[in-house]
Amino acid sequence: MTNNKQMLLGLGFTGTFGTNGKAWMSEDVDIRTYPDIEADIRYAQMAEKGKFQFIFIGDFPGAVPNDNRDVPGMTLEPIITSTAILRATKHIGVANTVHTQWNTPYTVARQFKGLDLMSGGRIAWNAVTGSSPQVAENFGVTLLDRQARYESHYEFVEMVQHFWGTWGKDALKADKTRGVFADYNQVKKVYLNGRYHQANGALPMPPSPQGQPVIFHSGGSPASIAFAGRYANAMIGEVWTIEQGIETRNALRQAAIDAGRNPDEIKFIAGLMPVVADSKRKALDRHAKFMDESLVYQRVQHISMVLGIRLSPADLEKPIPHELLDRVEIDAYSDPRIENVLKVAREGWSLRDIIYHSVIDYHPVTLGEAKETADHLSEWFEAGAADGFWIIPDVFETDLARFVDEVVPILQERGVFHKDYEGNTLREHLGVPYQYGLDERLK
Ligand SMILES: Cc1cc2nc3c(=O)[nH]c(=O)nc-3n(C[C@H](O)[C@H](O)[C@H](O)COP(=O)(O)O)c2cc1C
Repeated sequence: MTNNKQMLLGLGFTGTFGTNGKAWMSEDVDIRTYPDIEADIRYAQMAEKGKFQFIFIGDFPGAVPNDNRDVPGMTLEPIITSTAILRATKHIGVANTVHTQWNTPYTVARQFKGLDLMSGGRIAWNAVTGSSPQVAENFGVTLLDRQARYESHYEFVEMVQHFWGTWGKDALKADKTRGVFADYNQVKKVYLNGRYHQANGALPMPPSPQGQPVIFHSGGSPASIAFAGRYANAMIGEVWTIEQGIETRNALRQAAIDAGRNPDEIKFIAGLMPVVADSKRKALDRHAKFMDESLVYQRVQHISMVLGIRLSPADLEKPIPHELLDRVEIDAYSDPRIENVLKVAREGWSLRDIIYHSVIDYHPVTLGEAKETADHLSEWFEAGAADGFWIIPDVFETDLARFVDEVVPILQERGVFHKDYEGNTLREHLGVPYQYGLDERLK
């Protein structure tokens, strides 16, 4: 079981080839088949070689890219991908996104419990409401307002957990002598009559080695944090600074306490987009291959807005003058990425290179030798800004491989990441307790 002195690592997986939509264009990617489940399996095995505790599969079903050069996210439905990955790995867990705004509790309970049994206790359900109206349209659903969406979400998740616990722990007999397969008196129907969901029945499936699937949640709004603190064992987040990480992790731990739980049962997982190369210059050039000029122009505007300095594409090839940087004011309303923008700009890079540093991106980015990424992870972890990280590489074939081969050994050497899997189930990997049915403390 992990302890609080060691970080958790997960692989961010939104589809084949890499988390960058243009990963397929990398010279390292052999694209003869699309979609390519064999490649997905190879990446999962690579993460397992690096002793990652889990793979996080995000999902925005049906979202069509607006750039002809991008691969759509999760071409194969995530349950399909999870099944294939779990069959081809032995230790790593998979956290699989399924939305509650357009599914039914019984189906979700059945699919995940099946995956949990099949994998020996290595599946997590990333339970999100689904908040994109465009995605909802694919299912013919009009989204509820946020409050109702979360009320419905709570009900849905509790129903799933009720179903998971319907098979009594000792119901399975498998007694050939007496001819008794199971004592079905111990398989209890539940009668669930919520405001948003209704279902009666039982799920005739025994517990897995971890009891039942782990609950993950991905988000960051106050509603998200309250939900995750109550039901989840891990929250996949989006924070850009150590201070923001500490604040979010503390809020999450407080939400767990408010729900009557032990705060160590919920892990906060921050994102990192690492580019490992032989030098900073090589990392910048490599990362730049996935940024076309239109994105660079967008980022010029964004940096201009963040700093409050008028910048245009004409300024791309020169550094931002120090006298302008010195006049930038930071206040409570500033973009959380501003300090990093200023730090990189003060190092004297051209505006183009500042952009190639990905100072404006979905998550923090590290570029350069492996030590730079290891330092970022150690520093954040030791400051209490995260319990673990989801690693988001541009291209799995190269960027994940380099992370596994070069960053992981440094973390292991420092004693902040485990050297091998200590247990068998995802709960054991995360260091969270066995659970069967609805958490007694929440009733
Ligand atoms: C890091 C991160 C990952 C997310 N992953 C997904 C996802 O895979 N699928 C999805 O539908 N929503 C995803 N979301 C959206 C959130 O679950 C949430 O709906 C959104 O942040 C809006 O907040 P709200 O639900 O409180 O309105 C993600 C959000 C964050 C911050």
